[in-house]
Amino acid sequence: MTDFHFYEPAKGHGLKHNPLNAIVAPRPIGWVSTVSPDGVRNLAPYSFFNAFAYVPPLIGFSSQGWKDSVENARATGEFVWNLATRDQAEAMNATSATVPHDADEFALAGLEALPSRLVRPDRVGGSPVQFECKVTQIVQLEDKQGSAIAQWLVLGEVVGAHIDRAMLEDGVYQTARARPILRGGGPADYFEITDAALFKMSRPA
Ligand SMILES: Cc1cc2nc3c(=O)[nH]c(=O)nc-3n(C[C@H](O)[C@H](O)[C@H](O)COP(=O)(O)O)c2cc1C
Repeated sequence: MTDFHFYEPAKGHGLKHNPLNAIVAPRPIGWVSTVSPDGVRNLAPYSFFNAFAYVPPLIGFSSQGWKDSVENARATGEFVWNLATRDQAEAMNATSATVPHDADEFALAGLEALPSRLVRPDRVGGSPVQFECKVTQIVQLEDKQGSAIAQWLVLGEVVGAHIDRAMLEDGVYQTARARPILRGGGPADYFEITDAALFKMSRPA
């Protein structure tokens, strides 16, 4: 018989650390750039991030509290997602620092800002993939009683995708080639994806 630790989250987890984000892991990172209406560049990582639809491509990140990225996305209707890789892990982490609203987080992290084609927020230079997005919904999340919580899900449609051609092999995107990083649990755990993690399994007919 498996000996399960059972807990009801509303009553506490009874462990040293809340295991949720170590269990729902590793999570892709939404390295999100936005711009304020008066032109201040903003860049921040969000690991409550994923893709939610294929056609049209919808991606989203979830903010604990109303952060600058959410406010800029609301005010301008735009954001850019940048793929975080092992080469830029430290820079990505640096962009999570709490800084004044008027600080340019590209400059603070020593990152080059590349202009986008269809939206105003810049792209992260050196990141091998960037998606230019138009905001489709900003959803304030609710608990089971239907009470609003201080968590906002920002969804956007990818209107332009930039892919470093070096990541393509005969027109097929090679996930591990960029060495993407993903977030584990605890204060500091990350995973790096390499070819060693790959296995193949086809869907049943
Ligand atoms: C890897 C990583 C993942 C993070 N994921 C989230 C997240 O999913 N939601 C969130 O609210 N904050 C998250 N944070 C913290 C934000 O990046 C941090 O609060 C940042 O200052 C927000 O910037 P902004 O106010 O410019 O949007 C994460 C930080 C790191 C380093």
